[in-house]
Amino acid sequence: MGRPGASGFELLRRRGSGPALNAAIVGRVAGDEGPDLAPLRAALATEGVVIGARRIRLGDESALIDPRTTATPANLARRRASGAARMVARLLICELGGDPGAPLMRSTSGSPLWPDGFTGSLAHDESFAVAAVGRSASVTGLGVDVEPAEPLPADLIDLVLSGQEKQLTQGDEISRRLVFVCKEAVYKAIHPIDGTELEYADIEVRLDEGTASLMDGRRLRLATLFADRLVAVAIC
Ligand SMILES: CC(C)(COP(=O)(O)OP(=O)(O)OC[C@H]1O[C@@H](n2cnc3c(N)ncnc32)[C@H](O)[C@@H]1OP(=O)(O)O)[C@@H](O)C(=O)NCCC(=O)NCCS
Repeated sequence: MGRPGASGFELLRRRGSGPALNAAIVGRVAGDEGPDLAPLRAALATEGVVIGARRIRLGDESALIDPRTTATPANLARRRASGAARMVARLLICELGGDPGAPLMRSTSGSPLWPDGFTGSLAHDESFAVAAVGRSASVTGLGVDVEPAEPLPADLIDLVLSGQEKQLTQGDEISRRLVFVCKEAVYKAIHPIDGTELEYADIEVRLDEGTASLMDGRRLRLATLFADRLVAVAIC
């Protein structure tokens, strides 16, 4: 789940640091107050990347194919979110001309396994699942994250934000949360490529420039949505 949910932030603190496919929509969450992704889709079009979202619904867990997990009550909500994200991703793969029946299993690291010729990323918070997909011929790494537009908890600011990031977001708690969302997206884009275990301090986000720079010199492009949900897509 997205970090704002207690579980994600709790993880940080510990570190110290099925259903009908047409129920998922591309670009706007169907029939509710979900985020309008149209501006983000427009921004990503030049990258050949597509993005979509879906409100997580009862029964979405049936879209998750993963023999290593079982539908115990403790993880049913997580499986439901994972299924919803895969429903969106399959629609996006189809939109790009691929097989809408792709299994989208998990690798041992937890990252999704994409069909040949595609790469992408999944995320979910308490209510919404988001996916972003591109063709691997044009995109090497792709990461997405979604969070509610709420302030970053005060005890995480020094862990997550650099001095420059704190300065650039001074007095804007939601932008500070967006920096966090960007760093999660960067992690998801980079880790599947070479296994790099990035820490927050390894990533410098410039919301004004739409970039994220890594200590090793790599630079990713960022596309962000600042609405009732914060969404970030990192591309390299
Ligand atoms: C991978 C990680 C960033 C996911 O964040 P999260 O808030 O727990 O959960 P989200 O809903 O945003 O994303 C979950 C999705 O991330 C994807 N994911 C999991 N591990 C991944 C990895 N190593 N690489 C890329 N994507 C990964 C999966 O698709 C997962 O969804 P699924 O389980 O339904 O398939 C987080 O769990 C993690 O491992 N963090 C440790 C590294 C870290 O925090 N470093 C500092 C940040 S720079």
